[in-house]
Amino acid sequence: MSGMHIVKIGGSIITDKTKPLTFKKAVVMRLAREIKESNEEIILVHGAGSFGHIFADRYKLHEGYKNDEQIEGVVKVQRDVKTLNMLILNTLIDAGINAVSISPSAIVKCRDKKIVEMETKLFKDYLGMGIMPVTFGDVVLDKKLKFCICSGDQLMLHLAKKFKPEKVIFCTDVDGIFTFDPSVDKNARLLENADTDLLKSMLKMGKSKSEKIDITGEMFGKINTIMEISKIGVGSIVLNGNKKNRLKEALTGQAVKCTRIGGIKGE
Ligand code: IPE
Repeated sequence: MSGMHIVKIGGSIITDKTKPLTFKKAVVMRLAREIKESNEEIILVHGAGSFGHIFADRYKLHEGYKNDEQIEGVVKVQRDVKTLNMLILNTLIDAGINAVSISPSAIVKCRDKKIVEMETKLFKDYLGMGIMPVTFGDVVLDKKLKFCICSGDQLMLHLAKKFKPEKVIFCTDVDGIFTFDPSVDKNARLLENADTDLLKSMLKMGKSKSEKIDITGEMFGKINTIMEISKIGVGSIVLNGNKKNRLKEALTGQAVKCTRIGGIKGE
């Protein structure tokens, strides 16, 4: 067993993002078994997929408080992401993993969509007991906007800053970061290794377009998060969680099809 890892399972692989409340149990069970077999120490973060994005978008929760009608959206989305979290927790426990869930709505406060408070000691205490903490993209209180969306990617960055894990792994529905959007450009090439200069130039090249509803941004937003994580000296891996054993192989340090982004020490 090496150092600790922080793993995010994106909402696009654990739910059908186009249909509300569709849980992909078989995919989560396979990933849970891969985590179990890796025998690594992990903090798990998962996205909201169709349990969060569809209603969060309908009630415009990403804009913060604008009117009282949104309050119904706040409670419904918070309930729905908790439902997804419980489905995931059950699957993890069924796979033999000792896991507990930690709801961001109870321990995170944002200001203008940025995490300014988060009780991270809980994570450390559970890890110390050999228990895997599981947290997720959620609706949280915001000191300026009353409420906001706190994405799984934001949680990844905050937890990476706090715990300086050996690496962070993003399980997505594509093989890694491509030179162009692989769903629209067949000449798109997978970047096996990417440094922050390359990522910076990719961000400058323009905005990627996605047909799916995703108010926290797909790969584009992820690249920003990965660059921030890199600055704190922690490396990232972006891989395809729909492909068998890729997560397990990445966790155990084997060569696997993915994009690796190194951590830049001393920044
Ligand atoms: C979004 O979390 C949270 C809500 C919409 C409530 P993420 O942005 O981490 O979710 P995915 O991975 O894109 O589905």
